[in-house]
Amino acid sequence: MSTILTVDHLDKSFSGRQVLHGVDFFVEEGHVAGLVGPNGAGKSTIMKAILGLIPIDGGGIEIAGQPVSITSHQALRKVGALIEYPGIYPFLTGRQHLELFAAKHHQADNIKHIVDALGMGKYIDTKARLYSLGMKQKLGIAQALVNQPKLVILDEPMNGLDPQAVKDLRDIIRDMAAAGTSFLISSHILSELEKVADDVLILNHGHIVRNTSMGQLAESGGVTYQIVPDNLAQAKAALTLANVTFTLEGAGIVLHENAEDTALNAALYALVQQGVAIRSVDRKARDLEASFLAMVQAEKGEA
Ligand SMILES: Nc1ncnc2c1ncn2[C@@H]1O[C@H](COP(=O)(O)OP(=O)(O)O)[C@@H](O)[C@H]1O
Ligand SMILES: [Mg+2]
Repeated sequence: MSTILTVDHLDKSFSGRQVLHGVDFFVEEGHVAGLVGPNGAGKSTIMKAILGLIPIDGGGIEIAGQPVSITSHQALRKVGALIEYPGIYPFLTGRQHLELFAAKHHQADNIKHIVDALGMGKYIDTKARLYSLGMKQKLGIAQALVNQPKLVILDEPMNGLDPQAVKDLRDIIRDMAAAGTSFLISSHILSELEKVADDVLILNHGHIVRNTSMGQLAESGGVTYQIVPDNLAQAKAALTLANVTFTLEGAGIVLHENAEDTALNAALYALVQQGVAIRSVDRKARDLEASFLAMVQAEKGEA
């Protein structure tokens, strides 16, 4: 597996205030990397630096092995991007925008494919001044995708999209990634990226605080079991007797189980042995968004 994007110890200050602190990560070919962090964390600044749009104070960026900087843009021929808000010409149609961006050969095929995939057929020949916010956002995304780039950078692309458009976008990202395109996608909402990203970079105050796979992140929150017994008082007595650690939530007993823990089996065994009838057992992975907020607050020293 080769690396398409390397961000190496990136430092950046604005007017003497440091907003990126040694930001370090890479994106592999065909992977979708999610860059997640609260507003102001530095997501757009990282993306602008990758695109050679702003000077940086330290570190470096390489795309497909070629350095990128404010004066060196050669590698960006392989890149499609949407940063912050799409630049839209009000008096051009959506299709005319895409024609400006698409390479001349196989232009019509690419445009048709993207327009269909993002469900833009009904208005693609209408002037963009009549577009809603969501329609403009989709046009910006289409512009980033239409030239069959090796690397696509999308800054908060789900903003302003309805649920169907979010699903269409996820589908086209997964299709393109399966064909070898790499993605760096930012969001301030981790769960937006849950179904689309392979890898997750969590950014807080300009520091990467976590760099892991989405699967590992989901598991790392831990798993919870909820057992609803017929008789809560009897159940509490049985579990206490068996030395099982639990908490109470309504009519249920909650167990926090780690991978190496056998709390569920111990609890069920104790309940059955003491003749306590069980109504239901539920397994829940800890909510991803809650884990993310806990991580970001812990780093701020607020938790
Ligand atoms: N051009 C700029 N001049 C001064 N400060 C800036 C500029 N751009 C961004 N910042 C500051 O840098 C920090 C990171 O901003 P940004 O990268 O836009 O965050 P995010 O995209 O994660 O919301 C913020 O504190 C923001 O105010
Ligand atoms: Mg931003």
